[in-house]
Amino acid sequence: MSEENNFRFLKACRGEPVDATPVWFMRQAGRYMKAYRDLKEKHTFLEMCKTPELATEVTLQPVNALNIDAAIIFADILLPLEPMGTGLEFIVGDGPSIPRPVRDAKAVENLRPVNAEEQLGFVGDAIRMVRKEISGKVPLIGFAGAPFTLSSYMVEGGKSREFKITKMMMFETPETWALLMDKVCATLIDYLKMQVKAGAQALQIFDSWVGCLSPHDYTKYVLPYTKRVIDGLKECGVPVINFSTGTSTMLPTVAQAGGDVISFDWRISLDDAWKQIGYDQPIQGNLDPVLLFAPLPVIKERVHEIMRQADGRPGHIFNLGHGILQHTPVDHVKAVCDMVHEYNHA
Ligand code: CP3
Repeated sequence: MSEENNFRFLKACRGEPVDATPVWFMRQAGRYMKAYRDLKEKHTFLEMCKTPELATEVTLQPVNALNIDAAIIFADILLPLEPMGTGLEFIVGDGPSIPRPVRDAKAVENLRPVNAEEQLGFVGDAIRMVRKEISGKVPLIGFAGAPFTLSSYMVEGGKSREFKITKMMMFETPETWALLMDKVCATLIDYLKMQVKAGAQALQIFDSWVGCLSPHDYTKYVLPYTKRVIDGLKECGVPVINFSTGTSTMLPTVAQAGGDVISFDWRISLDDAWKQIGYDQPIQGNLDPVLLFAPLPVIKERVHEIMRQADGRPGHIFNLGHGILQHTPVDHVKAVCDMVHEYNHA
């Protein structure tokens, strides 16, 4: 166990010096990989999430194909919605769809409390299986959606551009919003604790869409809940990564919600972001995922620019600012791992 604590990814989460900058990618398992597409021919996405043997296989695909410093369990932030009672479907080509969206007080009151061990136990089983396979190789990250991003799917019923229905719940019926967030927080804390108990060695909280809010609304309607989840995980003793996108104009506020590591996107330079957050705070980021489609010399220039800005300070985890996109060339992803590991700060 003490040896596992020495993985460079976990050291960087704690702000300790490392032999080389750790790198992993959000959505490192997925459709850009042939092995994933082959498996997807035989199973639906939800089947893959709910069958621990399949989830384990997919989790290991990028570990075997790339020189990454962490695995992330194959699952989805929306899985807790099923036991909460809204339903959950993935429509091919159109992303997630929630059949019974939660749009008023009655619907929020009717949401069911979740027992993660019983109702999402397949995620715990997959975590246990993956840990057996990668023990001594790389650490395993567990994850969940942040309260805002998860709630926005429940309210909107799927993906959204304006988040108008979600925002109107905040503005028109703040007590209904507060009750929804209370319930979502309770589910998330229980779910993430279950993942750590099963063997997750770090956790990432995905607030993918929170950048749609003004700093005022983030502070009033979201920050206290994200903070509640992160505070609630302290007793687990594993590092928590506070991830969001579109938040470069309010990073110090986002950091107030907590997290051992703050993850930000490419809309701000790494240097600017780290200065604002404070150099004693470990960070994760921040290559534009679209750059992975660029010619290798261009990628190298931009990877080196990020590394130069990080300047060899302890506490930098290299990642994209958001997930790997479909059709991304696998050899470019692999090349980025090497560029990061081989970069010499001297
Ligand atoms: O990072 C990993 O490798 C672990 C797996 C993972 C998935 N989803 C697999 C997945 C993780 C960490 C997620 C998180 C997730 N899911 C987020 C937060 C991260 C982000 O990208 O912002 C969100 C918003 C979701 C919800 C979700 N799941 C969407 C919007 C979609 C559709 C995406 C699309 O382009 O169609 C999914 C499906 C999904 N989740 C896929 C994968 C590999 C694609 C499913 C398929 O094979 O068709």
